[in-house]
Amino acid sequence: MFDQRTMQLPIRLPIVQSPMAGVQDADLALAVSAAGGLGSIPAAMMSAGQLADNMARMQASGLAYNVNFFCHQPPKVKLDALEAWHKRLSPWLDKYDLASKNIPLEPSRQPFSAANADLLAQFKPPVVSFHFGLPAADLVARIKGWGGLVMSSATTLEEAEWLADKGADVVIAQGIEAGGHRGIFLTADLATQLPTMELLQACVANLEVPIIAAGGIGTQAQVQACLDAGAAAVQVGTTFLLCDEAATNAFHRRALQSEGANKTHLTNVFSGRPARSMENVAVTEIGPWSDVVPSFPLAGNAMGLLRKAAEAVGKDDFTPLWSGTNNRACDTIPAAQMVRRLAGVEDK
Ligand SMILES: Cc1cc2nc3c(=O)[nH]c(=O)nc-3n(C[C@H](O)[C@H](O)[C@H](O)COP(=O)(O)O)c2cc1C
Repeated sequence: MFDQRTMQLPIRLPIVQSPMAGVQDADLALAVSAAGGLGSIPAAMMSAGQLADNMARMQASGLAYNVNFFCHQPPKVKLDALEAWHKRLSPWLDKYDLASKNIPLEPSRQPFSAANADLLAQFKPPVVSFHFGLPAADLVARIKGWGGLVMSSATTLEEAEWLADKGADVVIAQGIEAGGHRGIFLTADLATQLPTMELLQACVANLEVPIIAAGGIGTQAQVQACLDAGAAAVQVGTTFLLCDEAATNAFHRRALQSEGANKTHLTNVFSGRPARSMENVAVTEIGPWSDVVPSFPLAGNAMGLLRKAAEAVGKDDFTPLWSGTNNRACDTIPAAQMVRRLAGVEDK
């Protein structure tokens, strides 16, 4: 059933588990890789020590795996923009007694760096993927130097062509249905964003490199439709969020299982970049779209404090409830079973 192009990925089944910062680690990645898919380690919110521990676990398994990084342009801290944002959040900052002066002003997430490349070189992961473009050419070359496969997300044909041109071995076509952050990096115009199938077809028709389809995929029929349209594999995130090995927190799990889970929105309020989330106070009362949000990832500092304060009193009002449009496909089962379900192979 598999497209011949799958053979260019070091996996048996055409299922890549999306790297999902904050909700999973090597537990999920190991389960997916052991089942024949490609497990991913999301580095964006890990310290160097945590990343090294996770890579060591993957390496010890002898299985193929992917390590993922953000590679955004770090923002300039503009105090007036932060002030406007904190003013917008003031009803809730006041409610939780969080004076603006206590809010950190420095970016909480750093893009892929030479130090990251040094750490990776100790483990030589077989696949490294990026979100928000690609790092500088010398860093891409270092990964290729140990035979690492370089992948990155595109949200338009233009981005896909840019990535292939700059050395991506595989392009991940991330459709508008996808959960979490959109990988959009060449434009800020959301009118350019396409559904997964449309973007996949455009990429397959115009690029030489293998294309992975991502966004809103939750059933074997959807996987097969992507493979039939020429995808080398699919990348699936949301569908794994209720699996036993995911570290999805209780607030997020409850939202995914709630009546209103199917109401998802593109919102910029959690970080400053567009991302798909289920509804909560942050999404419906501050967003989904805010014109005073500071640049990624600076919006997240105040939101992180609000999240912590609200969760401490049992509320998910500020929790980023990342989800694609496919959350009805989530299930409280082992990830290996989900991989087999998606790939359409017999359950053991
Ligand atoms: C909870 C969550 C966290 C995510 N974090 C990342 C990340 O750290 N890096 C990344 O490249 N993509 C991230 N994504 C986006 C995925 O790469 C992928 O595009 C998405 O999961 C595909 O759509 P789906 O969730 O509908 O399957 C995340 C997605 C979700 C749902």
